[in-house]
Amino acid sequence: MKYFGFLAAALLALSMAASPASAEAVADSDTLLVLFSMTGNTKAISDAILAKIDAETANIEVATPYPADRDTLLETAKQEINDNFKPALKTRVADIGKYKTVLLGYPIWWSNIPPPVASFLADHDLTGKVLVPFATHGGGGLGQSVASIEKLAPNSEILKPFAARGGSRVSGADIDAWLAENGLLEK
Ligand SMILES: Cc1cc2nc3c(=O)[nH]c(=O)nc-3n(C[C@H](O)[C@H](O)[C@H](O)COP(=O)(O)O)c2cc1C
Repeated sequence: MKYFGFLAAALLALSMAASPASAEAVADSDTLLVLFSMTGNTKAISDAILAKIDAETANIEVATPYPADRDTLLETAKQEINDNFKPALKTRVADIGKYKTVLLGYPIWWSNIPPPVASFLADHDLTGKVLVPFATHGGGGLGQSVASIEKLAPNSEILKPFAARGGSRVSGADIDAWLAENGLLEK
């Protein structure tokens, strides 16, 4: 029994060491859901989507964390977006080639995609893939975010994005309708 405990701990340590750089293999799916969410609003939408479709998941994590203080974060983000800065990521999906469809979730930052999402798109070749954006915002809508995605993934087919105000109640029916419209509803 003791031995099995040790084995389990060793396996857990191994899997944890391997996990940050790769997509989590929750299912053998040709769909990947990639998420960047600072305060959980976009994660809530992501969870609602994952309740409806089979997808593997990857979280976009920056190498150097953003400041926790909101005002400092706002300034840092504004500066980075103005400079077209792409921060280094901890996240790297090594087997990106195996996915046909990539759902990409993010919060709107200054009417745009957050810089880590720009980094993700620049770091991964999404040629020939279907790209499905979803975002939360504070009331300003999608802004230029989809145009920015198009620029960074010029050889992907971008389907209809989903947008919701962060923290608002999004019904399963809304998610269903959007997924169905994009031909993604499986169950
Ligand atoms: C740096 C920063 C910039 C933001 N810029 C905008 C904006 O331009 N328009 C808008 O509607 N909301 C903006 N917001 C609000 C977020 O988009 C909103 O709170 C979102 O739901 C956060 O998602 P998250 O919890 O997944 O990080 C901004 C938030 C931050 C932190």
